[in-house]
Formats: sequence, C-alpha cells, structure tokens
Amino acid sequence: MENNKWAVITGASSGIGKEFAYQLGKKGYNVALVARSRDKLEAIAADIQKQFGRETRVIPLDLTHRDFARELADRTVDMAVTMVINNAGFGTSGSFLEIEDDREIEMITLNCSAVTQVARLFLKRMAKNGEGNMIIVASTASVQPCPWFATYAATKAFDRFLAEALWYEMKPKGVNVLALNPPGTATQFFAEAGLSDSPKRLATVEQVVRTAFKALGKRPSVIVGVNNRFMAFTERFTPEKLLIAITSRIMKKMIGTS
Ligand SMILES: NC(=O)c1ccc[n+]([C@@H]2O[C@H](COP(=O)([O-])OP(=O)(O)OC[C@H]3O[C@@H](n4cnc5c(N)ncnc54)[C@H](OP(=O)(O)O)[C@@H]3O)[C@@H](O)[C@H]2O)c1
Repeated sequence: MENNKWAVITGASSGIGKEFAYQLGKKGYNVALVARSRDKLEAIAADIQKQFGRETRVIPLDLTHRDFARELADRTVDMAVTMVINNAGFGTSGSFLEIEDDREIEMITLNCSAVTQVARLFLKRMAKNGEGNMIIVASTASVQPCPWFATYAATKAFDRFLAEALWYEMKPKGVNVLALNPPGTATQFFAEAGLSDSPKRLATVEQVVRTAFKALGKRPSVIVGVNNRFMAFTERFTPEKLLIAITSRIMKKMIGTS
C-alpha cells in the first residue's frame, strides 16, 4: 500500500508502541522507532526490515529531555511522515502524598508536555502537506477521576481532550487525529507503575492496535472493548461521589492496600 511513507512511533521499544510498529510495517509503512532503549529498538527495527522489507530508522531519545523536539525534528526532516503514534508514557500509583516528586514531574513531562511537542512538530508538517494521521494514546483512566492513580489519570484526561479537540481542528487540513483509550493491557505498564495487581481481564496489544486502526478517520476518540465502552457510557449518569468511590475501591485493590 504505502511504500515511501513513514510512520513515527514513540514508545516503540515495548508494549502498545512495539505492536503499532509491527502492524505499520506489515501495512507497508517505513517505520521510525523512538524510545530510550537503543538495543531494543535496533532489534525490533531489524526484525521489521526482515519480515516486511520496510526501511527503518532507530531514534534513541529521552522525550523528557529539554531539547528532544529539535533532535526529533532533525532526525525525521527527510521523511514523508504520514502516520504518528504519539504513545510513549508511563504511570505512577499510590498515595498522592507519597509518590516521589521527581517521578511525578517526569510523568507529567512525558505524558503531557512531550505528547504536545510531538503533536505540534508533526501536525504542522502534515497540515502543510494536506494529509496525515496521528493517534494519541490516552487511557480509559481518562474518563473518570482515579484516586491512588490521580496524576496519571489527569495526564490521560489531558491527552484525550487534546486529541479530541485536534481531531476537529485538523480535519479541514486533511489530517486525522484519534484519541485511543486502552483499558488495562498486557504490557510492562503495571510493573512500571508499581501496581501489585492488574485487572483480571487484560486487553492484548493486538486488540488495542486493531481497534485504533478501525476508528482512525471515523471519530475523535475510541475506547477499546465493548464492555469498557458500555461502562464509560453508564459512568456519565453515575453520581460523581459514587463514581469516585467505586474507582477508589478498584484502584486500592490494584495498589495492594485493600
Ligand atoms: N498497558 C496499559 O494497561 C495501558 C492502558 C491505557 C493506556 N496505556 C498507555 O499506553 C502507552 C504505552 O504504554 P504500554 O502499556 O505499552 O507500556 P510499556 O510497555 O511500559 O511501554 C512504554 C513505552 O514508553 C517508552 N518510554 C518511557 N519513558 C520514555 C521516555 N522518557 N522517553 C522516551 N520513551 C519513553 C518506553 O521505552 P524506553 O523505556 O525504552 O524509553 C516504552 O517503549 C502509555 O502512554 C500508557 O499510558 C497503557
């Protein structure tokens, strides 16, 4: 299908981003892989090249560093980028008062500031070319406040609102933007967030990516999984205090304090 078009994927070294990289390689995109772990990215790039015969580029970057956007711009300047998966992110969990200050700030920097900078860099280019697609990875945690996961859920509400608003702004420019809201998904995420328990039924990365491609260009936002879509719908009619109390109970179990 596309053969000189490039996809840029942030957080491509594992989990959801890695699956996007493989699926985009399979669809015929050349892929630029961004994350901190150079070794993992190189192994994935070599495998995508071997399996699908696509061009690949490894861009090892820490997206919390001040100058990352300039470096990312330089390293992708020669590419016709028509797909961006704005995905790198992590979560903190536990008592708001006890989470380390630096870790909390690092998360806000990655989940909000870096996501915005990646969006600004590539949406400007795509708008100029009159075509393109961007998927911003938010979360089902974005649809209600989450005690014990408070800042993470707030960063994901930021991502969802950003993507949904940009869906509207970018549509007349020929560019699709989608907020992707995965539920608990089988990746490194839970270990990274320090959660001792994860939801019983985790989505797979394949399901998350499949849902995203189905929704891209059709709507501003998608929640992965029929049950999760139904729950998000019913939450709109649930009194706020009750909703927060229910979410708190679920989260307490996940951080291992109930
Ligand atoms: N898994 C879930 O249950 C779930 C649910 C909803 C939403 N999400 C969202 O999905 C996205 C992907 O998470 P995942 O589940 O796939 O987790 P994951 O397997 O831990 O992947 C996170 C990715 O982000 C990269 N990353 C972390 N810090 C970075 C930094 N400072 N600079 C550049 N890259 C960085 C990691 O690579 P390096 O360590 O190599 O840098 C890795 O590639 C996140 O935005 C997360 O919030 C996940």
